[in-house]
Amino acid sequence: MCGIAGYIGKNRACPILIDGLRRLEYRGYDSAGFALAEDGGVVILKAVGRVEELEKQVGERDFLGTAGIAHTRWATHGKPSKENAHPHVDCRQEIFLVHNGIIENYKELKESLKKRGHRFSSETDSEVIAHLIEEYYGEDSLEEAVRKALLKATGTYGIAVLSQREPNKIVAARKGSPLILGVGKDEFIIASDVAAIIRYTDRVVYLNDGEMVVIGRDGYEVSNLERTRIDKRVDRIDWSVEKAEKQGFAYFMLKEIFEQPEAIKNAIRGRVLSADGNVKLGGLDDVRERLREINRLVIVACGTAYHAGLVGKYMLEEYAGIRADIEYGSEFRYRKPILDSKTAVLAVSQSGETADTLAAVKEAKNKGALALGIVNAVGSTIARETDAGIYNHAGPEIGVASTKAFTSQLSILALLTVFLGRQREMSCVTGKRILNELAEIERHIKTILKQAKEIEKIARKYSGFNNFLYLGRKYNYPIALEGALKIKEIAYVHAEGYPFGEMKHGSIALIDENFPSIAIVTKDSVYEKTISGVQEIKARGGKIIAIATSGDKEIKKLVDDVIYIPKTLEMLTPMISVVPLQLLAYYFGVQKGLDVDKPRNLAKSVTVE
Ligand code: F6R
Repeated sequence: MCGIAGYIGKNRACPILIDGLRRLEYRGYDSAGFALAEDGGVVILKAVGRVEELEKQVGERDFLGTAGIAHTRWATHGKPSKENAHPHVDCRQEIFLVHNGIIENYKELKESLKKRGHRFSSETDSEVIAHLIEEYYGEDSLEEAVRKALLKATGTYGIAVLSQREPNKIVAARKGSPLILGVGKDEFIIASDVAAIIRYTDRVVYLNDGEMVVIGRDGYEVSNLERTRIDKRVDRIDWSVEKAEKQGFAYFMLKEIFEQPEAIKNAIRGRVLSADGNVKLGGLDDVRERLREINRLVIVACGTAYHAGLVGKYMLEEYAGIRADIEYGSEFRYRKPILDSKTAVLAVSQSGETADTLAAVKEAKNKGALALGIVNAVGSTIARETDAGIYNHAGPEIGVASTKAFTSQLSILALLTVFLGRQREMSCVTGKRILNELAEIERHIKTILKQAKEIEKIARKYSGFNNFLYLGRKYNYPIALEGALKIKEIAYVHAEGYPFGEMKHGSIALIDENFPSIAIVTKDSVYEKTISGVQEIKARGGKIIAIATSGDKEIKKLVDDVIYIPKTLEMLTPMISVVPLQLLAYYFGVQKGLDVDKPRNLAKSVTVE
C-alpha cells in the first residue's frame, strides 16, 4: 500500500503535493518523493523516511512548477531507500512514474528489458513500468505509450505519469489500486484517496479498474485500455478532511477491521500453487533445502502476534507434522533456550521493530538456529536480521491495537503449514483442501462484518460489566486470549482469556451473575466438550455471549446472546472467530468515549525492553 498524489492547474504544485502526501501518509511512510515540471525540465526530489524528511529537503527552495506527481511509499519490493523511493524514471530521464500496487510479472519484464539495454536503478517492481513506457514512447503520445505498457503488466497498479516531453499533462490509470480524480476550478488532483483532494475540491471522479485518465490544463478524458472513451459521473463528497483520511470510518481501528478481507487476499496473492496443493514462498527460496532438515520450530512473538504464533503452533503440529513451540520474546531472551542447527526460530511481528522479538532473533542466530520472520513492515530491523522470511503485505496498521495484521499473520502461518507439510508427509489432497478453504476466508469475514450493528448492540447491552472471562478450546484458545487482550487495551475492561477445559480448575469460582463469559463454541472436534463448559457456567448463573457456527440452533437455548460465524476448516476458524471479538472490543471502547486508535499507555511499536 502506498499513496499517490498528482496536481496540474494554475497554482504551485509543490505545497499541494506535500500536503497531499501528508494526508496519505497512513498508507505508507518509509520514503517519499515528487517530480515537478519546472522551467522546461522536470525536478525530482526523494527522501527516506516520513514526508517530513521530504519537506526538509524542499526547505527554502521556491518551486514554481504547476504540474507534478508525488508518492509516499510502503515498501513491498526492495528496502526503504532513496533508490527505491518513487518517482521512478526511464533510462533517458524523460518519464517519471509513481506506482501503488504490485507488478507480478516484473521479474520477467525486467529481464527482457535488460536484454534490450535498459538500465535499472532500483530493486522495485514499479520501475519496470517506466522502462516499458520508454519502449513505446517514440512516435506515440504519452498516453498511448502508457496504454501499451500497461497491457504488458500483470498484477495491480494505480499509477501517475509525467513526461518532460509533454509537461502539460498527467496520465494516470488503475487496476486493483484506488485512484480518484479531484475536479477543481482550472485545477485537477489525482490521488489514491479523497483525503488528499478534499481541501481543494469536493467534486470527484472515481476511476474504475482498467480505466485511464489523461489530465491536461483545461480538462480530462477517461478511457479504457482499449481506447474506448468513457463518460464519467462527477460525484460530490461530503466528508470532512479528518473523516476522509479514515475513508469514512470513525477510527483507523474500525477501518482496519474492515480491511481484513483485503489484507488476507494480499497475504495469499501469488503464493498458491493450486494444482499441486502447495505454496510458493519466494522469501524462503534461499533456505528451502535447509527447511527440509529442520525438526523443530520455535515461534517467538509478543502480544497479539504471540496469539497468532500460538495458533500457528497448533496448525504446524497437526498438519505439517513438525514440532512447534511458542515463546514470548520477552521471556525467551532471558532464559537459556536449547537451540541447534536443526531448529528454526520464527519471529512474528507486524512492525518488525519489537525489541523483545528482535532480541530473540539475535539469540537464535548466536546459537546457530535458522532465523525466519513473518513481518509486515518491509525493510524493518527484524526483516533485515532474519535469514529469510515472508512479508504480510497487509499495508500500514495505524490503530495501536493490532487487527488486520493478526488475521494476515494467521494466513501466512497457514501457508507456511502447507509449505512445510508438503516438504514432509502432507498429501496433495490435504494441501488443496487447506488452500481452498483459505481462499474462502475473505468471504466469511465479509459475512461477519455485515453483523457489525448487532455486535454493537450486544456491546451496549453488556457495557455495565467490568469483568469478562473469554473461553475457547484448541484452535480457539488463542482467540480467547486475543479477545481478552483486545477488550483490555481498547476499553480498559478487565478480562481473562482461558482454555475452556481449565476453567473448572479454578477460575469458575469467579462466575456469578455479575461476571459474564464470552464463549467460543464453534462446531469442531471439541464442540461437545465446550458445550459442557457452557452448561457449567449457566448452572452458576453466569451470563454468556457465544461465538457459534451458523446453523447451530441448540446453542441459542443455552446462552444469552449468540454471534454466528460461518463454518470453515477447524484450523482456519481463528481467522474468523476473532473478528466479532475485535468488533466487540471496538464498540465497548467507543461507547465509553475512548480514543480507540490510541489507547493509554500503549505504543504501536514497542522498541524498548
Ligand atoms: C495488541 C498489540 C500488541 C502487539 C505487540 C507486538 O493489539 O498490538 O500486543 O501485537 O506489541 O507487536 P509487533 O507485531 O509489531 O511485534
